[in-house]
Amino acid sequence: MRIAVIGVGYVGLTTGVCLANRGHDVLCVDSDVERVIALRSGHCPILEIGLEALMRRGLQFGRLSFDSSLSALETHSDLVFVAVGTPEGDGGEPDLTYVRQALRQVALMASPGSVVVVKSTVPPSALAVLEAEMQASACSKELAFAVNPEFLRQGMAVADTLHPERIVIGVADAEARNRLLELYAPFAVPIVVTDPVSAMTIKYVANCFLATKISFVNEVANLCERLGADVDAVTQGMGLDSRIGPKFLQAGIGFGGSCFPKDTVGLLHVARSVGYDFQVLASAVAVNDQQYKVVLDRLTERLGSLRGTTIAVLGLTFKGGTDDTRETRSFPIIRGLLSAGAEVRTYDASVVHARLPGDIAATARDSLESCIADADGVVIANDATEWAGVEWRSIARAMRGTLVIDGRNTLDADLVLEAGLEYWGVGRTRVGRPSAKAFSKVEPEL
Ligand SMILES: NC(=O)c1ccc[n+]([C@@H]2O[C@H](COP(=O)([O-])OP(=O)(O)OC[C@H]3O[C@@H](n4cnc5c(N)ncnc54)[C@H](O)[C@@H]3O)[C@@H](O)[C@H]2O)c1
Repeated sequence: MRIAVIGVGYVGLTTGVCLANRGHDVLCVDSDVERVIALRSGHCPILEIGLEALMRRGLQFGRLSFDSSLSALETHSDLVFVAVGTPEGDGGEPDLTYVRQALRQVALMASPGSVVVVKSTVPPSALAVLEAEMQASACSKELAFAVNPEFLRQGMAVADTLHPERIVIGVADAEARNRLLELYAPFAVPIVVTDPVSAMTIKYVANCFLATKISFVNEVANLCERLGADVDAVTQGMGLDSRIGPKFLQAGIGFGGSCFPKDTVGLLHVARSVGYDFQVLASAVAVNDQQYKVVLDRLTERLGSLRGTTIAVLGLTFKGGTDDTRETRSFPIIRGLLSAGAEVRTYDASVVHARLPGDIAATARDSLESCIADADGVVIANDATEWAGVEWRSIARAMRGTLVIDGRNTLDADLVLEAGLEYWGVGRTRVGRPSAKAFSKVEPEL
């Protein structure tokens, strides 16, 4: 098929590249000219395992092209996917500016009979507005509308797009339905075909359910600390029940990223707009807004006033395997530390310092060594696999203090404790005792 993808970010680029890899002729359009120049030269602007190699293959075989203009759309409109951003608006409602603009542009340029498919996460309450906007710009040209929400996980985007667990299509038009089914049949996975409002609702509630599961387990971890129970054992025991399942039971400092925070707040807004008070979801958001503070509380408990202390924060992206810092939990931790008077140093090899907000960029160091030197405490703020391989004995020698706070429960506590450091995870019982001198640092090996 001849396919266009509008908006070449995490979702759009991965979609375009993977569809080209499946033999389709794909045009990817982005309004960011510099991004398009980079993409044309084979440079992938985002960190996603396997994406750049696959993209180069698509370019090499002539199945993939990039443009900053929609002028070539006429020849690529069997299916036109819209995958532009839908950030959180000022009042928490999803900001549909980019989607509306993209739909207007596509409607003007697409050839008659095209199927326009919204892949961006858009609220079910906006369906009528979006469809009307597209039809108004199409004038009398016949275009079909569909939604096809995306469920990929950043850091696993290529694998998730090539091998999704399910595909959801929301469509009323029979021809559009058949074209999308033809596209997705070779994926050989369950396809849920429904009306557009239900499809849009599936996307929101799936993300909100996962976010709620995270907030639930974080509250379990907070409770475990007060009870003297170990959250790892508790969640293992819970997760072996197939009705619960083991995934998303990792306690920590809360969810971040480009989707869960905005989609939870967005669905609360949608629910309010139709007169419904979604109490469970409101609580999940409220818990998440507070959860990062467990790190600040524990630092204060162990170090007293944080004024004049030096704290190293490892991990700026919202999770490992991505370069994305949108709504990362490390930023409120860093800002909380700064306002408490601490000197903060941060380290994350996967982020470009120039893309960080000014106050965070000022804390960024180029190496782990310069970040942790003379630190009173170390905070692990994401689940990058890198931290599990850290040589804790060297860290212990370089630090001034002994405190290691594992905000993602990602470390082997024994390795940290064996290095003479004090370990604290979220709801874990394998912690160092506060009788500080019991944690005297190991002597350098001669
Ligand atoms: N990132 C994820 O993991 C993920 C997963 C599932 C769903 N989603 C949803 O998918 C959508 C896209 O998310 P993303 O993370 O890929 O966004 P992104 O910010 O990475 O990319 C959006 C791209 O759209 C481009 N753009 C904006 N307006 C345009 C226009 N009129 N014409 C052409 N290009 C335009 C921007 O320049 C940008 O490159 C959002 O609605 C998001 O909620 C994201």
